[in-house]
Amino acid sequence: MPGLLLGDVFPNFEAETTKGKIKFHDFLGDSWGILFSHPSDYTPVCTTELGRAAKLSDEFSRRNVKMIALSIDSLEDHHGWTKDILAYNNEESGCAFPFPIIADNQRELAVALGMLDPNEKDKDGMPLTARCVFVIGQDKKLKLSLLYPATTGRNFDEILRVVDSLQLTAKNRVATPADWQPGERVMVPPNIPEEEAAAMFPAGVYTKELPSERKYLRYTPQP
Ligand code: BEZ
Repeated sequence: MPGLLLGDVFPNFEAETTKGKIKFHDFLGDSWGILFSHPSDYTPVCTTELGRAAKLSDEFSRRNVKMIALSIDSLEDHHGWTKDILAYNNEESGCAFPFPIIADNQRELAVALGMLDPNEKDKDGMPLTARCVFVIGQDKKLKLSLLYPATTGRNFDEILRVVDSLQLTAKNRVATPADWQPGERVMVPPNIPEEEAAAMFPAGVYTKELPSERKYLRYTPQP
């Protein structure tokens, strides 16, 4: 059964979090959102991931993106573990953790959102959550999803990079090439005819010559 598809309105779920009870769409308001799950509290890879995510939280805020994490542990565990994450980041123990963590101990949300990894089990043989990332747009629709196994930590710089691409391409009819970084040239999508592209991108369109002689590899400066 397919899970959430790109373009689906993200479920407006209710959840208990370290910053109180939320209804997801109200939590997002008119911001973008990133919801990411991790297998378990008090585990090494997850600690490095949430530490990195916390360090980058100002960068996500600057892009108008609200962050929220999820695991199938209790609020009590989350509160205890965030102290460890702050210590891992060499931050004061009194600091507030910058984003909420959902307590999904009944696994209801993890099941509904297709986050469980049947191959990764806890001590009781129950499946743990995989490392899912959902990026949600201001229209509450799913713009991107990533799914990593428990044994591979995510790259949060890459997640910021895809947010930059998603926000750019939401406003401009362009696409970003492999390994694109903000400020670099972007690509003219193949469904824009040549004359329209010339009018649409006054900064110029450069077409790379290719053996096929097809004029599909077109660049323009980032709008
Ligand atoms: C970790 O976060 O280190 C981890 C969690 C579950 C399985 C493997 C690694």
